Amino acid sequence: MTDGIKNKVVVITGASSGLGEAAARRLARDGAKLVLGARRLDRLNAIAGELGLASDAVVETDVTKVDQVKRLVDHAVRLHGRIDVIVNNAGLMPHSPLERGKVEDWDRMIDVNLKGVLYGIAAALPYMKEQKSGQIINVSSVAGHKVNPGGAVYAATKHGVRVISEGLRQEVKPYNIRTTIISPGAVATELPDSITAPDVAERVRKVYEMAIPADSFASMVAFAMSQPEDVDVNEILFRPTRQEY
Ligand SMILES: NC(=O)c1ccc[n+]([C@@H]2O[C@H](COP(=O)([O-])OP(=O)(O)OC[C@H]3O[C@@H](n4cnc5c(N)ncnc54)[C@H](OP(=O)(O)O)[C@@H]3O)[C@@H](O)[C@H]2O)c1
Repeated sequence: MTDGIKNKVVVITGASSGLGEAAARRLARDGAKLVLGARRLDRLNAIAGELGLASDAVVETDVTKVDQVKRLVDHAVRLHGRIDVIVNNAGLMPHSPLERGKVEDWDRMIDVNLKGVLYGIAAALPYMKEQKSGQIINVSSVAGHKVNPGGAVYAATKHGVRVISEGLRQEVKPYNIRTTIISPGAVATELPDSITAPDVAERVRKVYEMAIPADSFASMVAFAMSQPEDVDVNEILFRPTRQEY
């Protein structure tokens, strides 16, 4: 399974916790060359230390800032001479009914979940085009396939990630670039902590009692990466076996 992972240069956004951290742990074990981004540098440094990564394998990155995402990717290329994979993973899920008008939460979701993914694509694509190889892995969600009350804006961003990824897939055919959407169901991470409405947070935490470990996501990343170069895994949707939604 480590074929197609060993020595690949992989940039992960939102690598300071949850799915991004789990992917970093898995890919480090399988011999990838990692460059990790997130805002919480202390967390990134602790993870890098545990994984035995060099101190310059982490870069403080806010994905809402296009120049910071570019700096993260440029840094990976400067260190390793190329970029093989970017996992556009950073995201948040402050659910609430639209009638509450939580405009700041809507703005943050659009900025991080949607524009952050676009900035990752903008930063990595020029290098991948030049290399004529690469893989762009964008993290969507079950909410990229469905919507439920309280989750409209989050679902809009995650549907958007899938639409952008499919457009990208069609556009990058001449450059031998692979594109993968990974859409998880409930996975145990800090994601429910991003909910600012206490009653909604409580409801979501109850739903998340069924959540599966973050390593489930890491396995999907490893699977998509480790296919032969001429096999493009475009989409993976996975859930806890118990999850109905
Ligand atoms: N867990 C689930 O059930 C689930 C299901 C479907 C989809 N997802 C998606 O999976 C992705 C990862 O979420 P998670 O579940 O692992 O939650 P998490 O544990 O809260 O991790 C979110 C990550 O995103 C980063 N992040 C947030 N805002 C950022 C910003 N402005 N700039 C850079 N990084 C930022 C956080 O790092 P810093 O705070 O250090 O910046 C953190 O590393 C998200 O896109 C989420 O929508 C999760």
